Amino acid sequence: MDRRILETPYFMIDEKELDHNIRDMQKALSQKFDNWKIGYSFKTNSLPYLCEYMRDHNCFAEVVSYDEYNLAVTLGYLRKNIIYNGPMKDQKTFLDAIESGAIVNIETTREIRWLDCLNKNKKYKIGIRINFDIEKMCPLESACGDEGGRFGFCLHNKELDRAIDLLNCQKNIKITGIHLHTSSKTRSLNIYKAIAKTARSVIERYNLDLEYVDIGGGFFGGLTDKPSYRDYIEQVECVLGDFMNSHGITLIVEPGASIIASPVSFVTSVIDVKKTNRNIFITTDGSRNDIDPLMTKTKYFYDIESNSHNEVVDNQIISGFTCMEHDRIFHLKNYKLLQEGDLIKYYKVGSYTMCLSPLFIKYFPAVYLKKINCDIECVRKKWNVTEYLGSK
Ligand SMILES: Cc1ncc(COP(=O)(O)O)c(C=O)c1O
Repeated sequence: MDRRILETPYFMIDEKELDHNIRDMQKALSQKFDNWKIGYSFKTNSLPYLCEYMRDHNCFAEVVSYDEYNLAVTLGYLRKNIIYNGPMKDQKTFLDAIESGAIVNIETTREIRWLDCLNKNKKYKIGIRINFDIEKMCPLESACGDEGGRFGFCLHNKELDRAIDLLNCQKNIKITGIHLHTSSKTRSLNIYKAIAKTARSVIERYNLDLEYVDIGGGFFGGLTDKPSYRDYIEQVECVLGDFMNSHGITLIVEPGASIIASPVSFVTSVIDVKKTNRNIFITTDGSRNDIDPLMTKTKYFYDIESNSHNEVVDNQIISGFTCMEHDRIFHLKNYKLLQEGDLIKYYKVGSYTMCLSPLFIKYFPAVYLKKINCDIECVRKKWNVTEYLGSK
């Protein structure tokens, strides 16, 4: 397939970069820990092609709903290679996961009740998510700020004590893991030192005999001016390395953005140039919904391929195709006036983008893969009305 004739808009996955990110993380882990596992965070980008790619590259599936659990099973993940987190489990998949040896981290009180349905004569393993005050340990860094995190059982009141007591009362259940994923604004190294210290204190306080410590995701990846996987894993190693290695405890990481953001680009074309009394608007066939569905980004990595010989203008507002006024992507300063057919390519847009975009006005764009040998393959066809009506 010839890249020059691909119809825009489309996503392009760079397999070389994707492969590099996975290998880099595997290398960082194996240098410091005897036992480790990578659980790819499905929600970050659950394009079926990518979920299968991760499966084939020895990653577990980290899923946070019964739909994602069923997706992982349908895509051929062995249940024992699934990490099941979050509040959106249902009883059926929750029990199925525990009975078949998946890694299940309890998030809600109802899950503790559901454990009653398990066979009393068999032994089962369970993990539990810990809620701890990351904002106190790393001021101004956490995503939750002063309101505090809302996931897991709280270490600072009686909630975790109570949950652990309830689990310990069930003779067929053993707590074998703790889960401490924390979303931060900074993705800084401090966060991981704080996670590691908290894990250590939880293990000691409750005298836990664990098989794994799951530190979640939230890393940077694929950016030269930011911490590397190695830097993050070193933070954890200096607090927990000896202890975990000597007790045969597995370190689990659940990367999403750090693996999949940097390999993905989004290519759009200019479809109109509009001059008003106040501004110049460049309308493109991509939308902010495609690359910033959360409407939070303030800058992009991009470049422009233009055949224009127009004069340079002060400002052009690069906009999306939707009928929403706020579908404005960025201001292009001091650049020659663009023209129809020019290309704008956005880089590092693989996380929380294509899986979060709405089916608004226009259906999902095609996704291509640039293979390591530079061949181009379509891994998702553009959605048309047929796909949209598919569920009818
Ligand atoms: C439990 C859990 N694990 C992993 C991740 C992945 O995080 P990231 O994409 O920042 O690596 C998230 C994201 O919120 C999460 O909630």
